[in-house]
Amino acid sequence: MDPKRFALRTYGCQMNVHDSEKVATLLEDSGLAAADGESDADVLVINTCSIRDKAEHQLYSDLGKLRAWKAEKPGRIVGVGGCVAQQVGDRLLGRFDHLDFVFGTHNLRKVPAMLDQAEDGQRVAWVDEEKSQARFDLPMRRPDAPAGRRHKAFVTVMEGCDMFCSFCIVPSTRGREISRVAREIEAEVAALAEQGIREVTLLGQTVNAYGRHDVRRGKAAAVGTMPFAELLARLDAIPGIERLRYTSPHPLFYDDALIRAHGELRHLCPHVHLPVQSGSNTILEAMRRRYTRERYFEIVDALRAARPDIAITSDLIVGFPGETEADFEDTLGLVERAGLVDSFSFKYSPRPGTTAADLSGEVPPEVAQDRLERLQTQQKAQTLAYHQTRVGQETLVFVDGESRRGQGQISGRDPQHRVVNVDLRPGAALAAGDTLAVELVEATPHSLLGRPLDPALRP
Ligand code: SAH
Ligand code: SF4
Ligand code: F3S
Repeated sequence: MDPKRFALRTYGCQMNVHDSEKVATLLEDSGLAAADGESDADVLVINTCSIRDKAEHQLYSDLGKLRAWKAEKPGRIVGVGGCVAQQVGDRLLGRFDHLDFVFGTHNLRKVPAMLDQAEDGQRVAWVDEEKSQARFDLPMRRPDAPAGRRHKAFVTVMEGCDMFCSFCIVPSTRGREISRVAREIEAEVAALAEQGIREVTLLGQTVNAYGRHDVRRGKAAAVGTMPFAELLARLDAIPGIERLRYTSPHPLFYDDALIRAHGELRHLCPHVHLPVQSGSNTILEAMRRRYTRERYFEIVDALRAARPDIAITSDLIVGFPGETEADFEDTLGLVERAGLVDSFSFKYSPRPGTTAADLSGEVPPEVAQDRLERLQTQQKAQTLAYHQTRVGQETLVFVDGESRRGQGQISGRDPQHRVVNVDLRPGAALAAGDTLAVELVEATPHSLLGRPLDPALRP
């Protein structure tokens, strides 16, 4: 009999993308095969995000439509995991009678068993919090990962969040902070390097908080963790790793050692995505972010002093309860003063169970929308201006694949994580994972255009 085929639909952050990779490997290890698409699949797993109201509603809309998908072929199974699953749990089974199983963010390993139960007609939900190192005990990505990801990989170093920013649902969907033993991380990175992985992105909800609880309690040596900067230094030394990145850090956990690491470690990339959320000290306090705009500038300036070519990007929220026009202008001012190369910006969305959800001072939707647009207009101009400063420079591109335009144009990333597109001579055989030396010749708000240094590759 042919193996059953599975498909995965993934929403949310890189942590979710990586969790889906782990689920795919678990399903393959239990005898299933990846489907070509959902129409060809027997099992569909949706990995959900709950960060904003819209993300959560996406799941309800998807599930509504999946009744028809299930009816098309008897025996089809639908499972839901991720942050909405963790938050809503078995109530999802009550609400959608065609849903077969629900697994929380700590229960990936249970997916194959839950699938077996679903095949026996049982409907189960597992959303327990796993507080031990066992939660990191998941299969590694395979050497035959999808094209475009053969040269780079995510590696989890910590999970969960103890920060409880007043707007954020993540502490309740990902549970308490726990750091993975350093030698396990080193072993995984070394094994990936042996498979040909040259770029590693370390993942954690507040990734640079790695080890902090163990260090503070004087237990780091006993547990096997260490300060984040030390972990970076160890991984930087692993042969074969040419690019090391991490996401997302929190400003509170930048110490001198981490700043110095940016000047000293050879493979640590000149890019940091450092979410700031607001430029107003009043709003930062109401958000419980535990830093001021002045402290943010200090970090950004210190990073630039350590690594002059560093690109800083960020996340921003507009329309937080009580945000005045003056507060918002402080945000515009911060984006400029910090020289943000790019940012993701969002309208505040109240989330159930968070303290901000009870705050008064709601910003009218049309005001929030207007602020979002003004912020994005300013950012776009700043991004373009930054890209223009890069024109004339040489850089190295790690190729991801064909660009959106196609027609022999490839797309990749430079060390600053900017998208660089390159036109190639027809027949120039460049594949995902190849390295290409280019001169940057043109800037747009979204990307840079590069020209190969090797004349034989030019069109
Ligand atoms: N751990 C990261 C953030 C992860 S969530 C950090 O501490 O910075 C990704 C982004 O979603 C956040 O940076 C924030 O900008 C946005 N976000 C989180 N909760 C939100 C909410 N309730 N409404 C709007 N945007 C939100
Ligand atoms: Fe959410 Fe704040 Fe934790 Fe980031 S640090 S995941 S914004 S609670
Ligand atoms: Fe979304 Fe959960 Fe990530 S809420 S942003 S998928 S941690």
